[in-house]
Amino acid sequence: MAVIMDGKATSAKLRKEFLEKVSLLKEKGVTPGLAVIIVGEDPASQTYVKNKEKACVECGYYSEKYALPEETSEAELLALIEKLNGRDEINGILVQLPLPKHICEDHVIRAIHPLKDVDAFHPENVGHIMTGDFAFVPCTPAGVMELLKEYDIDPTGKRAVIIGRSNIVGKPAAMLLLHENATVTVCHSRTKDLAAICREADILVAAIGKLEFVTRDMVKPGAVVIDVGINRNAEGKLRGDVNFDDVVDLASYITPVPGGVGPMTITMLMQNTLRAACIQNNITL
Ligand code: GUN
Repeated sequence: MAVIMDGKATSAKLRKEFLEKVSLLKEKGVTPGLAVIIVGEDPASQTYVKNKEKACVECGYYSEKYALPEETSEAELLALIEKLNGRDEINGILVQLPLPKHICEDHVIRAIHPLKDVDAFHPENVGHIMTGDFAFVPCTPAGVMELLKEYDIDPTGKRAVIIGRSNIVGKPAAMLLLHENATVTVCHSRTKDLAAICREADILVAAIGKLEFVTRDMVKPGAVVIDVGINRNAEGKLRGDVNFDDVVDLASYITPVPGGVGPMTITMLMQNTLRAACIQNNITL
């Protein structure tokens, strides 16, 4: 039976550490500040944004939320970002994706000042992730790495297989695992013999966005299985990209959904915001 990797408990521990660091920062007159922008009414995005605000309160950060109507123009959104770029009390700016179709995500991502880009989506920060000299790490892959660390799983020399090649998860997760000395394979919808490649994985990361896609035949006995998916099943329950019940007795470690990578993602956003506040104020904690 696999060890269930508890993202909720790991998150709570880290957030407590951030709260302690924030009290040191406050003594120096600095409170980390995060601005979260949401455009439109997507219910999943609204839930994520609410959870990000809650995390700010838990960690003692200052936060501002901008809930803009669906019909907001790209120019209006860019003007808001420009204003936030110029404000000292805002250390991080997060624009919740996806955006309505009439707004170009690339324009928006590039408008955020790289030192306030706590999602690490700006091309400058993406470049830093490639070379390994990064301050901000994309939140979901960072959450995956932090969970591995919490459970003393060293990727060095291991075969890591990632299913999914998105800019938000798959590609940066590949880089982070490579920096930690794993041998990394990225699979996607055009991959041939996907199940056979997955079966070679010591660490299998599922980031496809397809309900319970990973089944028993795709998992090597003793593998670490990390589930990044957030999907709803026919009964409306949250489930991952891994068929948990099918795999749980085969894996050595597995993340549940909910309660695995999900809470870690937001915790890593808090870590990036804390780093942003330190960098912008020349403080080393
Ligand atoms: N939408 C889904 N995941 C993310 C994320 O990590 N950051 C932002 N800004 N939007 C998202």
